[in-house]
Amino acid sequence: MVAPKYGHALSVANSPHRPDESVLLNQTIHVTCVDCHNPHASTRVASFPAGPRIRPSQALVMGISATDGATVVDPAVNQYENCLRCHGTSTGKKTSVNFGYLPVRAVSATDRLNVIPEFDSTLRSSHPVFHDRSSILPQPSLRLNMLNLDGRTSGRSMGMQILCTDCHNSDDNREFGGTGPNGPHGSAFTHILERRYEFSQAPVPGKLVTNLFPNPNLSAQGGANGGPYALCAKCHDLTKIMNSPSFSQHARHVVQDGFSCSVCHTSHGLGAQSGTVSGERLVNFDIRVVAPNGATPISYNRATNSCNLTCHDHPHGRQEVVSPGRVGRIR
Ligand code: HEC
Ligand code: HEC
Ligand code: HEC
Ligand code: HEC
Ligand code: HEC
Repeated sequence: MVAPKYGHALSVANSPHRPDESVLLNQTIHVTCVDCHNPHASTRVASFPAGPRIRPSQALVMGISATDGATVVDPAVNQYENCLRCHGTSTGKKTSVNFGYLPVRAVSATDRLNVIPEFDSTLRSSHPVFHDRSSILPQPSLRLNMLNLDGRTSGRSMGMQILCTDCHNSDDNREFGGTGPNGPHGSAFTHILERRYEFSQAPVPGKLVTNLFPNPNLSAQGGANGGPYALCAKCHDLTKIMNSPSFSQHARHVVQDGFSCSVCHTSHGLGAQSGTVSGERLVNFDIRVVAPNGATPISYNRATNSCNLTCHDHPHGRQEVVSPGRVGRIR
């Protein structure tokens, strides 16, 4: 028996695709093949160039501009423009437990399901989907080539921009060495993620965390199912992150105590400015796990190397400076 996958819902209830529907699709929960493909124009994808361009399997499909979330781009030039028909400013977006545990971030746009502000180029940090990658901060862990699904061999070169489908793809896609088709159609992993990504969860924010993965198999080997953070390992060398001089507490939190990246890092970008969480390095805590430390709001500041919050029943105060070489009292 084939296990069910997490995927786009296709047409639910009385909500079919209509030829005259607007490009900016206020969701009535339908996602049909023709919302993402133009069957008259689709052609075979023979090579896999770096982002952001849309590929021939989606030729002449419609999109929405990332600049204002409203202007129609006919046809879409970049892959993400097609996604923005339904994951940008449109109304009626939902989250469903069917897609798996979803963190709630300390900082987000008013509409937290609108991905446009999360990838905006003016943010202090965001994964480079809409914009080129920056060289503002060093990226010691970044691979030159993305890893294939086997977790060993090198795939496409990192390039300057990445695609939505570099993270949201079928778990057996052919681009990274599988035998299935490319595309965010369905995956064995939550949120239609191409590879495994575990989220730490706490029944009560700030209290004990239930699912810890101490001593994770940091090598991404063993396929997409290799380790709890195989998705990140596709593009980042986890061993380098754990030895990173940039954050001396990585190994302690991840390898020793078993916390997921998702407790501290968002996967898209920050979505808004905040007076307390400064915005660098995709640090944006999951407030379903992390709580304020007394009356002080949750904070992170890279310049002063400090954070203030309560996590796993333990308050982290300003004295726990995260600078290199200084080991804070964690437990
Ligand atoms: C025609 C509308 C439409 C388009 C176009 C579309 N999606 Fe979706 N997507 C949906 C709907 C509807 C859901 C189910 C969740 C909901 O109701 O908002 C969904 C769910 C998802 C989810 C899971 C959400 C979760 O909560 O984990 C991901 C990831 C996703 N889409 C990525 C993409 C990507 C990447 C693209 C572009 C290649 C894309 N989508 C294009 C409508 C669309
Ligand atoms: C670097 C990997 C990565 C990239 C690139 C990426 N995502 Fe995601 N996305 C994730 C992860 C991981 C989650 C789960 C939530 C989290 O980690 O906070 C997620 C959550 C989502 C969700 C559900 C929550 C929400 O915000 O509605 C949607 C929809 C989604 N992504 C769509 C997209 C679209 C559209 C793009 C391209 C514009 C994109 N993603 C690019 C990794 C990525
Ligand atoms: C949410 C948007 C979305 C929906 C819905 C969708 N696709 Fe796709 N599909 C994509 C994207 C994006 C790609 C290209 C991925 C790439 O090359 O990175 C793709 C690729 C493909 C490919 C080429 C695969 C390959 O290996 O090159 C085929 C065939 C395909 N889709 C068929 C379908 C069919 C049939 C349906 C309806 C049952 C469907 N798609 C629904 C987004 C979608
Ligand atoms: C498809 C490739 C890809 C995947 C998968 C990926 N990243 Fe990245 N990541 C990048 C690139 C490219 C950069 C460099 C961005 C830059 O230089 O602006 C980056 C940078 C970062 C940064 C530093 C941002 C900054 O502002 O300096 C963090 C933190 C990060 N990623 C965390 C993660 C986590 C956590 C995951 C797993 C959920 C992940 N990444 C998955 C490609 C990826
Ligand atoms: C306890 C919070 C925490 C956890 C858990 C955590 N990080 Fe980080 N990470 C940070 C902080 C803080 C920085 C910023 C360090 C700096 O540059 O000052 C950072 C920096 C980074 C960077 C940029 C520097 C580099 O080494 O390339 C990447 C990439 C990264 N983290 C990825 C990850 C991944 C992947 C995981 C999970 C395997 C993870 N982090 C888990 C807090 C965390």
